[in-house]
Amino acid sequence: MADEVTPLELSRIFSSHPRLHTERLTLRATTLNDAAAIFDYASDPIATEIMTFPRHQSIQDSITFIEYNAECFKKRERLAFAIALKDSNEPIGTCDFHHIAPEHRRTEIGYIMRRSFWGKGYMTETVRELIRFAFDEMGMHRVEALCNAVNERSARVMERCGMTLEGTFRDNEVRKGIYVTTKAYAIVHTSG
Ligand SMILES: CC(C)(COP(=O)(O)OP(=O)(O)OC[C@H]1O[C@@H](n2cnc3c(N)ncnc32)[C@H](O)[C@@H]1OP(=O)(O)O)[C@@H](O)C(=O)NCCC(=O)NCCS
Repeated sequence: MADEVTPLELSRIFSSHPRLHTERLTLRATTLNDAAAIFDYASDPIATEIMTFPRHQSIQDSITFIEYNAECFKKRERLAFAIALKDSNEPIGTCDFHHIAPEHRRTEIGYIMRRSFWGKGYMTETVRELIRFAFDEMGMHRVEALCNAVNERSARVMERCGMTLEGTFRDNEVRKGIYVTTKAYAIVHTSG
């Protein structure tokens, strides 16, 4: 008989904000110093075109987002990271774990990057590290991500990271007055 799956204990993960490293990047807590970089992508009509959050109108919206990240961390609801270049500490985007479900050993991830840093493989490097961290350090069994069906760049990031398309939800949301189709991706830990 298979071993019983027990809920995850995430106190250690939420005791002090994790700092993760890849070849070219550091993933760390967002700080107020990141506000201008966050405003850069969050006010960009192209980067935010198919995102669910309202486009930032002023730097105050980006500051509010950073404060919200800190609040969510305290409440253990969401674990958000600034993605920074290792060499310069320049923030190039953000990513997070949300819909964290310790009882199911499951989490969802999200990510967005400043447009000037697209096309260099940074987000693939980030998502690979998020998946590694989720499996090896959080103890997750399953990592999920959703993307708008027209978001081919994001789909390619997930596919390069070994995530599998599990379903397509046709016209399942109305955004900006039109129906949008959502693709659901996931990766399951094979030995845990
Ligand atoms: C989704 C998003 C992060 C993808 O950005 P991206 O630059 O395409 O992704 P990566 O950083 O992984 O870069 C991959 C590209 O860099 C290329 N590349 C260049 N140098 C590379 C290197 N050294 N290593 C790896 N890839 C490299 C790859 O070939 C790839 O291009 P391709 O997809 O045309 O084949 C970005 O489009 C974005 O922020 N969009 C808005 C927000 C969004 O959609 N978020 C996701 C919601 S589900």
